[in-house]
Amino acid sequence: MAPKVLVSDKLSDTAVQIFRDRGIDVDFMPELGKDKDKLAEVIGEYDGLAIRSATKVTAKLLENAPNLKVIGRAGIGTDNVDKEAASKKGIIVMNTPYGNMITTAEHAIAMMFAVARQIPEASASTQAGKWEKSKFMGVELTGKTLGVIGAGNIGGIVCDRARGLKMKVVAYDPFLSQEKADKMGVEKVELDELLKRADFVTLHVPLTDQTKNILSRENMEKMKKGARVINCARGGLVDEEALADLLKSGHIGAAAFDVFTVEPATENPLFGLPNVVCTPHLGAATTEAQENVALQVAEQMSDYLLTGA
Ligand code: MLT
Repeated sequence: MAPKVLVSDKLSDTAVQIFRDRGIDVDFMPELGKDKDKLAEVIGEYDGLAIRSATKVTAKLLENAPNLKVIGRAGIGTDNVDKEAASKKGIIVMNTPYGNMITTAEHAIAMMFAVARQIPEASASTQAGKWEKSKFMGVELTGKTLGVIGAGNIGGIVCDRARGLKMKVVAYDPFLSQEKADKMGVEKVELDELLKRADFVTLHVPLTDQTKNILSRENMEKMKKGARVINCARGGLVDEEALADLLKSGHIGAAAFDVFTVEPATENPLFGLPNVVCTPHLGAATTEAQENVALQVAEQMSDYLLTGA
């Protein structure tokens, strides 16, 4: 009998087509990602579950999934999956670490431009008929120092693009070797040094016990006056209350956030402050990235279910 896969989040049609082409019996029910009771009712039938970020795979859900062998996350973060519970049940959790890295890095760069030139506020003011030319004085990126916290797949691309923009790049990443840093043309530094020197700080690390609040109040107080913070990685890396205070006092010049401690973010201490640009977790939201992650997750899951590889 063909293995059965449930797609419980909005995934590109490419994924469904690949499952079908590989002989997998696939059900596409993206509405289940937001309906945990219905999902719990049906999950028992499936060998594989393909998700994005809406489906929350809890230990309780897994109790209803005796046949489940693999959970595939079309994207990078697997923080919506209880990995410990999955591994106790012998269920493999796989992600697609490469499919959306360029797109996410590009979003971070776009956010950096947005705060350097106050583009969202200037756009809103212009469309309101105000023509406030002198209000929106920006800064150039050329020659500025970008501090990159986490120089892995996404952070590495950000470093490359920033160098193309003629920025100086300093990177804090305990896993970055000196040799790799030299190859990338970035200066490997300790966190305190990065905070002291950077005009812009961008985060590209997962949320772990070690990285939670890595930009704490104390650390942000070490930053240059007027420095700008960009977070397109994970909510919880920055103390949002402290950042709001530091934006109000003028110590931090601006912030661009795509991710929030609580998502969906319908309220947040940063909302409504001047020089704050927010987007609703759009880091991976391009047609190209969504095609890539859908294709990769479907191929990986099919390989596993059909060959065990
Ligand atoms: C990811 O982890 O792949 C990104 O944050 C994108 C997403 O969750 O949609």
